[in-house]
Amino acid sequence: MAIRTVTVIGAGVLGIQIALQTARHGFDVIAQDISDEALAKAREALDAIAAQMQADLKLGTMTSPPPARARLSLTTDLAQAVANADLVIEAVPENPQIKRDLYARLAPLMKDGAILATNSSTLLPSELAGATAQPDCFLALHFANHIWRHNIAEIMGHPGTDPAVRDEVQAFAKAIGMVPIVLEKEQPGYVLNSLLVPFLQAAAALLVDGVTAPQDVDKVWRIATGAPLGPFQIYDIVGLNTAWHISSAGGPKAQEFARLLKRDFLDKGKLGVASGAGFYTYS
Ligand SMILES: NC(=O)c1ccc[n+]([C@@H]2O[C@H](COP(=O)([O-])OP(=O)(O)OC[C@H]3O[C@@H](n4cnc5c(N)ncnc54)[C@H](O)[C@@H]3O)[C@@H](O)[C@H]2O)c1
Repeated sequence: MAIRTVTVIGAGVLGIQIALQTARHGFDVIAQDISDEALAKAREALDAIAAQMQADLKLGTMTSPPPARARLSLTTDLAQAVANADLVIEAVPENPQIKRDLYARLAPLMKDGAILATNSSTLLPSELAGATAQPDCFLALHFANHIWRHNIAEIMGHPGTDPAVRDEVQAFAKAIGMVPIVLEKEQPGYVLNSLLVPFLQAAAALLVDGVTAPQDVDKVWRIATGAPLGPFQIYDIVGLNTAWHISSAGGPKAQEFARLLKRDFLDKGKLGVASGAGFYTYS
């Protein structure tokens, strides 16, 4: 496999997870962000995630000397960050203009033939490819939050992506402990959200229509299908603030759900697992 050095741009929630997961599997990684403040936050996140990874995966110590951390450096210098990268993974905010501006700045800085992958959850590669210097070397490589545990990587090119690039990214994803899934065509929301979003919306409609209690909806789903979690348990994990944001922008039923979330949960400080209470309470 040709990919040896990897740069992650945007050391936020997902970027720092991707950087650490990649370093942990023996790659040299640079994580780049826009300010020293952002990097300070990233360092803190790195410690927290390393500890979580260790506990979840029952790993040996990742500190003193930290082999994965030693392969991972942080910088604000974009040119230096990407000069030697075989693969650049973009994980900046979900705003097409921020992503396009970044790609334009990357154009003269990246090596010829280097691969650029976006981690965007909602934008299609074809919407962004025109802003890149080498559209044939551009695709989406989408990770899920807590990537060391939820280790699926969806790989989605646009019609102009070179199939060899797709293959290299697939091999890379495997090499960092992911289960790579290649999508044969562009699909908004990939496979995961194509299934999850309608599922969660259907659960919300059952609640809004007063059909039965959230806990009973979850019980039906868990017992009848053997799934470990019901939809309202998933809402608590996603975060009720995020659910409120998304529902507020939806149709009439979704907006009714948004009002319910605000009245019964957000206004009472119940944001889901993160705040200790949502549809369920957590210790
Ligand atoms: N959060 C999730 O659960 C999740 C899951 C899968 C995919 N994603 C995708 O990952 C991407 C990042 O999401 P996130 O939740 O990590 O966001 P985030 O806001 O936590 O992190 C974004 C980081 O990018 C930095 N940044 C902003 N502009 C930049 C620039 N021009 N150059 C370099 N860094 C810049 C910010 O300072 C911040 O640290 C989005 O495209 C999102 O759709 C997020």
